[in-house]
Amino acid sequence: MRTNLGNKHIVFLPQPVLIIATYDENGKPNAMNAAWGGQTDFDMISIALSKHKTTDNILLNKAFTISFATKKLEVISDYFGVVSAEKEDKIKKSGLTIEKSEFVNAPIILEYPLTLECEFVSYENEVLVGRVLNVNVDNDYINENGKIDVSKLELITYDSINGVYRELGGVVGVAFKDGLKFKSEK
Ligand SMILES: Cc1cc2nc3c(=O)[nH]c(=O)nc-3n(C[C@H](O)[C@H](O)[C@H](O)COP(=O)(O)O)c2cc1C
Repeated sequence: MRTNLGNKHIVFLPQPVLIIATYDENGKPNAMNAAWGGQTDFDMISIALSKHKTTDNILLNKAFTISFATKKLEVISDYFGVVSAEKEDKIKKSGLTIEKSEFVNAPIILEYPLTLECEFVSYENEVLVGRVLNVNVDNDYINENGKIDVSKLELITYDSINGVYRELGGVVGVAFKDGLKFKSEK
């Protein structure tokens, strides 16, 4: 037996926990939490965003950064999603450290180990599209092969069914290889 749940509460797992950082009209940094996003081409990302202080800032500067929330930064990452910059100076309250991106007019929050530096492409029908100009990573999270050590990042995902954050799990297989076991021989 299986159950049809309809389309009222669509489940699309796993969802990322993205922290979008921007500067406002006075150069003040801000951060918001966004889960409805993903990579849509090798250097392109799209995020479903309603109008926020963040979207105003992006339209002003034509730039933003995206960091990936980690287990260690779960509480502050949630804070960035439950309070608007219209009400509080979230970055000041967080005590996190800001450095301006070398590539775009947007802040990097140094405590997040992995950050994408993005230029604005479009914002239509509440979907933001951006092009990634650079991937910026804390050296402590690069392994001896020069690759990002994904396990060490301790990334979290948003579970929209239960309204909680979960840890990403470990490796279960090898992509583009394991499935070949089923492929017919020519
Ligand atoms: C887990 C989580 C996920 C969220 N995902 C999105 C999202 O994908 N799109 C969106 O427009 N708002 C999303 N929000 C809401 C914004 O983060 C929130 O409205 C925030 O206060 C906006 O900040 P700002 O006004 O400083 O820009 C999410 C909030 C949380 C807690």
